[in-house]
Amino acid sequence: MKTLTVALGDRSYPIRVGAGALDALPEALSRLEAKGSVAVCTDSNVGPLYAQRVNELIADAGLRPVTCVMHAGEANKRLARIDEFCGQFLAEGLDRSSIVVALGGGVVGDVAGFAAACYMRGVRFVQIPTTIVAQVDSSVGGKTGVNHPLGKNTIGAFHQPSEVIIDLTLLDTLPDRELKAGLAEVIKHGVIADEALFAYMETHRDAILSKDLEALIYPIERSCEIKAEVVAADEREQGLRANLNYGHTFGHGIEAVSDYTRFLHGEAVALGMHAAGALAQELGLVDTAFVERQQACIEAYGLPTSWSELPVDATLEAMRRDKKARAGTLKFIVADRMGHVTHRTDITEEQARAALSALCREPAGA
Ligand code: NAD
Ligand code: GLY
Repeated sequence: MKTLTVALGDRSYPIRVGAGALDALPEALSRLEAKGSVAVCTDSNVGPLYAQRVNELIADAGLRPVTCVMHAGEANKRLARIDEFCGQFLAEGLDRSSIVVALGGGVVGDVAGFAAACYMRGVRFVQIPTTIVAQVDSSVGGKTGVNHPLGKNTIGAFHQPSEVIIDLTLLDTLPDRELKAGLAEVIKHGVIADEALFAYMETHRDAILSKDLEALIYPIERSCEIKAEVVAADEREQGLRANLNYGHTFGHGIEAVSDYTRFLHGEAVALGMHAAGALAQELGLVDTAFVERQQACIEAYGLPTSWSELPVDATLEAMRRDKKARAGTLKFIVADRMGHVTHRTDITEEQARAALSALCREPAGA
C-alpha cells in the first residue's frame, strides 16, 4: 500500500492506495481519534456488497457502525438525501466529533461528503471510493454536493475528507461499462499532465480492461498524485484546478442535452475530449496526429468519440448555462501538446460549433 498526501496545511490528508487498503480503516479511525458511532453512507448496490465488511472493521476499532443507505444512481443525488442522511445521524446520536464514511462511487461520495459538510456545521468524513471515477477523481479534492433540477452539482460545498482509502479489490464487482467510463478520467489526466501516463494507457489496455490489479495500480496512483498536486496548488479552482475540467465544458453540455441518461459522466467526458481535440487543432495548437492519437486511445477503451444525433445548438446553449461558465463566458481547456494544457476564453461561437460538429458522425464500423 502506498500513501500519498494532499498538502493543505492543517487540513492535509492521506490517500492510502493499494489492493487491500481497506484493512487500514481501523488505523485511520484511530489516527482521527474517532469515538462512539461512525455513519457508513452507501448506496443500494454497494451496501449489500461491502457495508458488512466496513462495519466489521469499524467494530474492530471499538466503534459503533451505523449504516445509512440511499438508492443508487445520479437521479438520487438530490437535496432530499441530505435531509435523510442528517436525520439518521441525529437519530443515531452522532455529534460534532463523529465521523461519516462515504462508501461508494462519486454519487455517494458527493452526497455523503455534503451531508458531512452540513451536519452540525461540518463533521469529518472518510472516503472509501468503489468506482474508478471515485478512486481517480471525486474522492480527492473536497468538492461535495448535489444536483438541482435546474443544474448538475449546483448545490454544494468544499469540504475536504480527513482520509481517502482506495482499495482496488473493491473494483472486482464494478460493471464493465462503469469501469470504462472511469478510465476516461485517467486518460484525461494523461492528456493534461503526463504523457507517460497516457502512453501507459495506450500500451496496457487489455490488462487494465481485465481489471488486472498489477496493471491498475499505476494509473490509479498516478491519477491521485496528479489530482492531489492540483488541489494542493488551487483548492478553490481559481486557476490551475480548471485543468481537471478538460473535456468537461463540452461534456457537461452533452450530459445536459441527453438528460443525464444516455451517457455516463465518463462517456460524456470522452466525447468532450474529442471535441476539445478538434478545437485545439482548429486553433493550430496541435496537429492531426495528436487528435488521432487521443481518439485511438479513447476508442480502445470502448468509449465514444461520436454521437451522430448530437444537437449542436442545444449543446452550446447548455454549455453556456453550466455553472463553470462565468457571465456567459466559457473557459475551454485545450491541449497544446500531449501532457500539457492551456486555458482559452476567446473561443468564438463558430469555433465551438465546429468542434462539436466533429462529433456528429456515425461511429467507425457502424
Ligand atoms: P456512481 O456513484 O453512480 O456509481 C456508478 C454505479 O456503480 C452505481 O450504480 C453504483 O451503485 C455502482 N457501483 C459503485 N461501486 C460499485 C462496485 N464496486 N461494484 C458494483 N457496483 C458499484 O457513479 P460514479 O461514476 O462513481 O460517479 C459519478 C458522480 O461523481 C457524478 O455525480 C459526478 O458529478 C460526480 N463527480 C464528482 C467529482 C468531484 O470532484 N466531487 C468528480 C467527478 C465526478
Ligand atoms: N473533477 C474536477 C475537480 O475536482 O476539480
